[in-house]
Amino acid sequence: MNLQFPKDFIWGVATAAYQIEGAYNQDGRGESIWDRFSKTHGKILNGDTGDVACDHYNRYQEDVAMIKNLGVDSYRFSIAWPRIFPNGFGKLNPKGLDFYKRLVNELLENDLIPCATLYHWDLPQVLQDKGGWTNRDTAKCFQDYAAIMFQEFGDVVPYWITLNEPWCSAQMGYGNGQHAPGIKDPKQAIQAAHYLLYAHGLAVEAFRSVTGNGQIGITLNMSPKYPASDSPEDVAAAQRGFAADVGWYLDPVLKGAYPEEIFQIYKKHNLAPEMEAKDLDVISTAIDFLGINYYHRRILGAGNPDSIFNYKSYPSVYEKTRMGWEIYPEGIYDLLVYLNKTYGDLPLFITENGACFDDQLVEGEVHDHQRTKYLQDHFVQCHRAIEAGVPLKGFYVWSLMDNFEWAYGYDYRFGIVYVDYETQTRYLKDSAKWYREFLTTQK
Ligand code: FCB
Repeated sequence: MNLQFPKDFIWGVATAAYQIEGAYNQDGRGESIWDRFSKTHGKILNGDTGDVACDHYNRYQEDVAMIKNLGVDSYRFSIAWPRIFPNGFGKLNPKGLDFYKRLVNELLENDLIPCATLYHWDLPQVLQDKGGWTNRDTAKCFQDYAAIMFQEFGDVVPYWITLNEPWCSAQMGYGNGQHAPGIKDPKQAIQAAHYLLYAHGLAVEAFRSVTGNGQIGITLNMSPKYPASDSPEDVAAAQRGFAADVGWYLDPVLKGAYPEEIFQIYKKHNLAPEMEAKDLDVISTAIDFLGINYYHRRILGAGNPDSIFNYKSYPSVYEKTRMGWEIYPEGIYDLLVYLNKTYGDLPLFITENGACFDDQLVEGEVHDHQRTKYLQDHFVQCHRAIEAGVPLKGFYVWSLMDNFEWAYGYDYRFGIVYVDYETQTRYLKDSAKWYREFLTTQK
């Protein structure tokens, strides 16, 4: 592949704490909602839990060496809030903090740029016992935790992400119950979304009050919606779908308002979130960049009495990954161009993109040509977007290595590195080797 990205483009790999760290009860770590949820019968495929995961907590040096060996510029990881504050607030756990100090030092010594996500879904269980994200106080606790992290790491971590995919935390955690804490109540989901956004805004405020020259943003999952036909009804349905899933998060953060049409629909169904007068001002505190997790698109059309948004999903057209997600690289281009047009010249990062396939380890090798092709095709579309003037600044592959894929457990592999969980041996898949090769052409 012969593509030249800008010289200062940041290439990386991404992970999240609960998915890789393991060491669930080591060094004073508190319980998170994912510990509780994964140990609840029937919630996770094969009854898997994150107790051990990739044992990254104990193998971080080996893993950083592996990241270095890939030739990337940056590593996106998340900090486990329950390691820092086992009870969510109050007494800090110095040993938990120390782990991230060692990790960040290791990255810096290897000339890797740390990009830290403060919340990738592992809420301290103690806070869930008080209502979790449906309790306004949780946002305050998040701000306090974030402020401590900025004090400790503000001068060494240049990129910060407040929340990873608040849509998932709210809608899958409190709406359909497929994720921790497993609640199924649309009203709670929309309230949780509001307090998540409020927590994001409070954290950005805290960041601005700490000196340092880092940058802060939020990562949203965005699947662009395409209309099933050109009919005005289908076009409107696709727009409504995008506003409900993505605009509901983007607009408050970037415009200081919820999308009006969706707000009215929620209001009509008595689902609108409770909020205070200044909340949207806090939520829209200026950010430095927007993080995008892109995996697939959706096709929507009008008409569905079961959905309050009156839209229905259409089957995908092209090949799918093992997750059942349609492979549609053009979607990342369309999305980037749309965001740039709609929200202006805010720097953008792809903070996750990657694919799950049924990988086979044979004699130490994994020939995952489908994943390599997936990545190549998405790189091509990102390059196209940059050529079209979109300020895309970096790209993080999801994921560095196979890990605990939430409700799908360990059976679903997204890594460019294969993990043999029995021995904790890591093997570079062909996609990792290709990525490393590609990166040598970008220096
Ligand atoms: C995203 C999550 C990430 C991973 C990928 C496949 O929604 O942020 O942790 O599970 O999906």
